[in-house]
Amino acid sequence: MAPAGGQRLARIMRSFAWSGSPARIVFGAGTLAQVPEELARLGSTRPLLLASDRWADCGVPAAARFGGATMHTPVEVTEQALAVFREHGADSIVAIGGGSTTGLSKALAAHTAAPQIVVPTTYAGSEVTPVLGETRDGVKTTRRLPEVLPGTVVYDVELTRSLPVATTVTSAVNALAHAIEALYSPQASPMTDAMALHVIGTIPRALRDLSTVDSRAELLEAAWLAGNCLASVSTGRHHKLCHELGGRYRLPHSETHTVLLPHSLAAHGSTDTVARAMGVTDAPGALYDLISELGGPTSLRELGMPEPQDEFLHRAWRGQRPGEAVSALTRQVLASFAGTEDPRTHQLITDLVRHLHSYAVRNDLTEREWTRAIEFLTDTGHITDDKRQEFVLLSDVLGLSSVVDLLTNSRTPDTTPSAVLGPFYVDGPPAAEHGADISDGLPGTPLVVRARVTDEAGEPVPGAVVDVWQSNEDGFYDVQLPELDGPVLRARFHTDPLGRLHFRSILPSAYPIPADGPVGGLLAEVGRHPYRAPHVHFMISAPGHRRLVTQLFVRGGEYLDSDTVFGVKDALVVEFTPQPDGSRLLDYEFRIGRLSS
Ligand code: BEZ
Ligand code: FE
Repeated sequence: MAPAGGQRLARIMRSFAWSGSPARIVFGAGTLAQVPEELARLGSTRPLLLASDRWADCGVPAAARFGGATMHTPVEVTEQALAVFREHGADSIVAIGGGSTTGLSKALAAHTAAPQIVVPTTYAGSEVTPVLGETRDGVKTTRRLPEVLPGTVVYDVELTRSLPVATTVTSAVNALAHAIEALYSPQASPMTDAMALHVIGTIPRALRDLSTVDSRAELLEAAWLAGNCLASVSTGRHHKLCHELGGRYRLPHSETHTVLLPHSLAAHGSTDTVARAMGVTDAPGALYDLISELGGPTSLRELGMPEPQDEFLHRAWRGQRPGEAVSALTRQVLASFAGTEDPRTHQLITDLVRHLHSYAVRNDLTEREWTRAIEFLTDTGHITDDKRQEFVLLSDVLGLSSVVDLLTNSRTPDTTPSAVLGPFYVDGPPAAEHGADISDGLPGTPLVVRARVTDEAGEPVPGAVVDVWQSNEDGFYDVQLPELDGPVLRARFHTDPLGRLHFRSILPSAYPIPADGPVGGLLAEVGRHPYRAPHVHFMISAPGHRRLVTQLFVRGGEYLDSDTVFGVKDALVVEFTPQPDGSRLLDYEFRIGRLSS
């Protein structure tokens, strides 16, 4: 038979059994409002609402609400929900949420035989499967129980519109995995083929444009069909591997699917059908590129899995693009570093080589292009001296400085976020007394800064050295203005016994980064502006504490959304509050981390 798209999947006759899901499906935008009608159809007057606080006012007239659903459906949580169900004499279940909420709904149905109305907010698909997963004493088991299949599923596209991109991607790739597995399953049938091909054709395309309600509707329809695929065939190798790794290393479910699917597909060998349905030639590579463009995840390493020994898993662990053969040349180069003593240096240099080689191969890099890149780097070197650091600027505009900075921050979550140093810091700024005016009378909107430095516990840090530097009203630092006599708009303070400091200055303004060199040329060539959002820099050091380098951005200032060095973090955008006399007040508490002894 020829399924959708006229593609012949099975050349030989096959046998199959098919039982369609008897569930009632209500699909549309705003269909959440139809839940009361659906309850009336069921003759239910006392539903238990399973939903987080977010849905507390969703308009479903419930006898009670339980908001404690968690991943993997622990039996203790089911017991708690069951107690609420019984206490309130509930006669049905309405579940609004992702896979965890649906899981709890099914587990409750297994105990109570109550009818369920499930309103999924992600693309998990489990609302149309009879699979019940439960965790007891940390061990997860899954069973197929026809009686837990929800009788009514209400798909409301509006609920999925605000699903964050990261969850959208992993949840949709999870659905895609169900479809791909169904396609290659020994239990495949014309029905699962048709559904699977539709899903595979739809999800990658819809993921590329999440802004429209139509794409969201396509994704939700695809998730429904993918769920039906999952319901109709038993799970394959890919799914089992995701569960095994997820269980062993406590990896998040849909993220694990997302990392592994391109690799599982590559390992399958014959992927032409998937490629045709996706409209590409290399399905594993295209899928990997899509996930990577949408922000990942692409490696098991970033999900927190320890390094595996097995080669298949190792590729997925390091996030290698599947199908990308490591050439004999690359292997030879990698082997040349085998003698590196320091393991970290070895890791960093070999991974760099892998990525550089793969970059050249993937882009079919020409000699001319590479020569141009070398010339660019040469110019970057030529313009760099002890006053001008064009390499740092390059790292800044490529966002690399901010990536490294974010990695640092994620290791110190309880302290004030850091931000890039920038090229305008001058070591050893002039010492200033509290209350000093560091603008030295330059024109601008007067600014008063009152700050405190505390540690993670909120205890004041006295005697901390606080260096401050900023641009003037026209967006220049003193070092850019040869006519200025000596340092201005930069100073060094020491916090008082209560960890405080205060000084006067002027409001900083937005400014372009130095754009007269190769980095400026790059920005111009790609049509990017060179501006930074207005900010004041701070560098805070105190004995026994980690140094904090950061910036505070003026709320409402220009370029906050398009800072050319990607340095803006929400937590660093603060009020520079207008005062009755026209001046501004910046009042801020910095939290710095103690050095672990
Ligand atoms: C700055 O804020 O001073 C800066 C940071 C990165 C690049 C250029 C300037
Ligand atoms: Fe700056």
